[in-house]
Amino acid sequence: MKKLLSVLMILTLMFSLAACGSSEQSSSEAQPEAEASAPKIGVTIYKFDDNFMSFVRRSIEKSAGDQAELVLNDSQNDQAKQNEQVEMMISKGVKSLAINLVDPQAAATIISKAKEAELPVVFFNKEPSEQDMASYDKAWYVGTTSSESGVIQGELIADSWKANPAWDKNGDGKIQYVLLKGEPGHPDAEARTKYAVETVVEKGIEVEELELQTGMWDSVKGKELMDAWIAKHGDKIEYVIANNDAMALGAINSLKAEGYFEGDKFMPVVGVDAIPDALTQIEAGTLVGSVLNDAANQGKATVDLAINVANGKDVLEGTEWKLDDKKAVRVPYLAITKDNIQVAKDCYAE
Ligand code: GAL
Ligand code: CA
Repeated sequence: MKKLLSVLMILTLMFSLAACGSSEQSSSEAQPEAEASAPKIGVTIYKFDDNFMSFVRRSIEKSAGDQAELVLNDSQNDQAKQNEQVEMMISKGVKSLAINLVDPQAAATIISKAKEAELPVVFFNKEPSEQDMASYDKAWYVGTTSSESGVIQGELIADSWKANPAWDKNGDGKIQYVLLKGEPGHPDAEARTKYAVETVVEKGIEVEELELQTGMWDSVKGKELMDAWIAKHGDKIEYVIANNDAMALGAINSLKAEGYFEGDKFMPVVGVDAIPDALTQIEAGTLVGSVLNDAANQGKATVDLAINVANGKDVLEGTEWKLDDKKAVRVPYLAITKDNIQVAKDCYAE
């Protein structure tokens, strides 16, 4: 047993190095060279009031340090507002833009403004279409491979289901699930919904969808939907799949109010992001697991690229990041359960 534990600890350590190590490496390598200036960089976040994005924002601020002067905007979930903010930042003389779109379809609008001002633009978190990305040679993207989070979540669901035969409450061998979807049309929401379920099926488990609705990444909406679904289906629900942790946390609150997680009344719930509040629930046993969405490295990569292009350098100069054929830096996801929870804690540590 002891030996097994130490092997597990070493494995966890290795994972943690793989997941978070690049952040430290590139931060020292991305230090400005002698002639460094502190260019003005225009940043928008689609809304400050989004759990996961607040961690990306923190990383952006921290990574910029004194290497850049950030002009930071809360677009308040309003694309028209964001368009105005971009114009305002251009008139203030920013040297590059880092844009978290409100509406992924609005990339073309932002690109035309950037083009006109001959400004480079780094999109992050909401991926523009391939076509939009190809329309401007000074546009890049920092994010993830959206489908990866769905596949990893599907594996978490399948593995946990197989390990807990009692979760099949009606004993029909199928998972009766409800799914809390993120923003419709958001590449992450679409891919997570598709690949989580497909992966479970590929692993040989039959599924039946009881409900699927959007909770817009939001905890309060997640709770409201779950309240309604429990009222309608009660114990017919056997699994709650959430496209992100905020909605999963809302669902857990709803379930707790209905007496779940007491005695042997249990409901498996999974999320994505592995934000600190979700880690607390994993430790408490109320969340089966999550998928680490590495806010620290996404924020860092966004800033590294935006500073380079603001300084007229090659976009990757002095960094360890790699671009794929879509001009995108993609930070990997990682499955998080109780066994390797420390990895996620470290990634979200200040
Ligand atoms: C996703 C994240 C969600 C939400 C969304 C905003 O990557 O998992 O929690 O923050 O981005 O665009
Ligand atoms: Ca069943």
